[in-house]
Amino acid sequence: MTEQSFIPETYNQSVENGKFSWESPSNIALVKYWGKKKNQIPENPSISFTLSNCKTITSLSFSKKENKEDYSFEVLLDGEPKDDFKPKIETFFKRVEDYLPFLKDYHFKIETSNTFPHSSGIASSASGMSALALCLMSVENELNPNISQEDFIKKASFLARLGSGSASRSIEGDLVVWGTHPKIEGSSDLYGVKYPYEVHENFKNYQDTILLVDKGEKQVSSTVGHNLMHGHPFAQERFRQADKNLSNIISILKEGDLDQFIALVESEALTLHAMMMTSMPYFILMKPKTLEIINKIWEYRKATNSKVCFTLDAGANVHVLYPEKESNSVLEFIKSELVAYCQNGQYICDIIGLGANKL
Ligand code: PMV
Repeated sequence: MTEQSFIPETYNQSVENGKFSWESPSNIALVKYWGKKKNQIPENPSISFTLSNCKTITSLSFSKKENKEDYSFEVLLDGEPKDDFKPKIETFFKRVEDYLPFLKDYHFKIETSNTFPHSSGIASSASGMSALALCLMSVENELNPNISQEDFIKKASFLARLGSGSASRSIEGDLVVWGTHPKIEGSSDLYGVKYPYEVHENFKNYQDTILLVDKGEKQVSSTVGHNLMHGHPFAQERFRQADKNLSNIISILKEGDLDQFIALVESEALTLHAMMMTSMPYFILMKPKTLEIINKIWEYRKATNSKVCFTLDAGANVHVLYPEKESNSVLEFIKSELVAYCQNGQYICDIIGLGANKL
């Protein structure tokens, strides 16, 4: 499929106004996306667990307007006007306008809220952009009721990607691949696809407890971070490694090999941060407490033979991943050993999920 195929033919229905609401989850990458080409095309494929509890709930109200020259929209977060979200949404509208030619026909009211604290350092762009993309697809569905369920999902992921790359992986669950990879049938740089192969029981209801180490504003936006991969001395090798890790994860997921899973996932997390530390300019997004937690996880694993492991986003928070059957013991360990490193003792218990829902 090409970008062109997402440009709709003329709509056969006309709609004056309406309102749609979607909830869409966050996701956590196992093989990370870091580095992109023009038009939000990833330098390497990535795969993620869709989450359940960390999500954005967005309602989009729309009404026809006279002036069709400009975009017209208002944004509210938790019921309060949120003008600092506007530039990002305006950029998103510009990027998707060719694919949603009705954008200038309506005034939009975007009302959004997150189930996790906004300042928690948990990226809301994946859940937020995917929720908005789905609301816009619901509007398009009114204008063209013939769109199939499959095309609806695909285009929602395509649009979400143009808002934030990782958002393309939040539409469905429980494992999603984004980025073309020769061994993943149907994979595409343009949208995320449900992981198409067998997944072992060991990964069913996999747990993700997110330890909130640092809730401060991000030092580096992901846009800046991705751009630092241009001309990065280790970039090409990193992209090759991600390709290889995606190949390797296929048999790991099939066989349920948790030791190999741990090695791959932790190496991916540290490599992501290594890329930031070796870019120019360079950044360290981990905090001392991030390292303390990692060391504690390693000690615990050694002492107990647990299959708990960690992964990281582009920040200091730690995602603690573990199989469902270890839920009680690992949560005990988190409470007794790791919560002390969390800001105000805060953590979020999440679990692998099935994707977005229309409300
Ligand atoms: O979607 P973006 O542009 O915010 O990039 C996210 C990148 C990471 O979260 C660091 C990795 C990933 O694959 O989600």
